Amino acid sequence: MVFDYLEGGADDESGLRHNRAAFDRWELRPRRLIDVSKRVQSTELLGRQISSPLVIAPTGLNSAFWPNGDLSLARAASKAGIPFALSTASNMSIEEVSRGADGDLWFQLYVVHRNLAKSLVSRARAASYSTLILTTDVAVNGFRQRDLRNGFAMPFKVTPRGALDGISHPRWLWSYLTNGMPQLKNFATDDASDTASQAAVLRREMDASFGWDDLRRLRDDWPGKLLVKGIVTAEDAERCVEIGADGVIVSNHGGRQLADLPAPIDALPSISDATPTTDLILDSGIRRGADVVKAVALGATAVMLGRATLYGLSAKGEAGVSDVVAMIKEEIDRSLALIGYSSIMEVDRSCVARRPV
Ligand SMILES: Cc1cc2nc3c(=O)[nH]c(=O)nc-3n(C[C@H](O)[C@H](O)[C@H](O)COP(=O)(O)O)c2cc1C
Repeated sequence: MVFDYLEGGADDESGLRHNRAAFDRWELRPRRLIDVSKRVQSTELLGRQISSPLVIAPTGLNSAFWPNGDLSLARAASKAGIPFALSTASNMSIEEVSRGADGDLWFQLYVVHRNLAKSLVSRARAASYSTLILTTDVAVNGFRQRDLRNGFAMPFKVTPRGALDGISHPRWLWSYLTNGMPQLKNFATDDASDTASQAAVLRREMDASFGWDDLRRLRDDWPGKLLVKGIVTAEDAERCVEIGADGVIVSNHGGRQLADLPAPIDALPSISDATPTTDLILDSGIRRGADVVKAVALGATAVMLGRATLYGLSAKGEAGVSDVVAMIKEEIDRSLALIGYSSIMEVDRSCVARRPV
């Protein structure tokens, strides 16, 4: 059930397939006889230098994959010289992660309840998070049949099917029993102190009335960098920029919210044309270095890794995340060499073309 939570998508999961298929419809156009003996993939994002155009995406319930999974991801990101985004639905608190990991930390906000959101934002500020992400594509939860079928919810309910699942994964079960039930630590307040009420806060009180004026107020309240996540149209991206967002995350939540949304890689060129000077971060479907090169060619400054780094986390904790990031960096490097570019910053739309059908 944990794998299904990681891997699954919304509805009939066609959005997941489209996210990947959309990358396959682009091909890379190589230049030959160019000196590519030295290659650079470091770049600038939101005014800071990063070692590669990669960011680890915010994901909830990371302790289901590995004990203290939030910290494993944050530390691997810091060692790799890339930012890490902590989810509102993290299992470790904003403060625990900032105490345990240095590096560039971002905080992703779900507006579950206005007052709670205000307090999360000021805690992130006090704990020196550089960047706030407002996720806008979860007005209600997506319909994920795998989770419904498995009864995957917090607190984990012990059903015969779940018990069998646990027994057949003894290593996971052992670590789960020895580390205790994952908590949504950001919600460990007096009135929501046990896991059941924390989950209820997250499930029932997502504030679906949050609008553009609220974004404007959030902009006024947050002095750091502000990104808006879940944007897939040029009109919305332009509006975010008008309001003063520092960047836009072009994302359909990895196909987890609504299957019938555009694949972000297809939406990217028009968004980039509409907001040419804004930092754009693309996610949903990034699995390989060549995907990153295609995203940068189509207008992204960087990409976010969601499931890719979670596979590494689930297999080997922090070391597994580091392995995945190293593999993707190596693939970016190889792709650059093989298309005749010595720097990721030179990559532009002339590097990609539609693959003939
Ligand atoms: C297990 C899982 C949990 C996620 N939780 C959150 C979350 O709490 N907040 C959020 O903004 N996005 C969340 N996302 C979406 C990711 O931030 C990202 O948009 C998505 O994973 C990108 O697609 P990819 O998995 O194909 O790379 C989650 C994704 C996964 C796979």
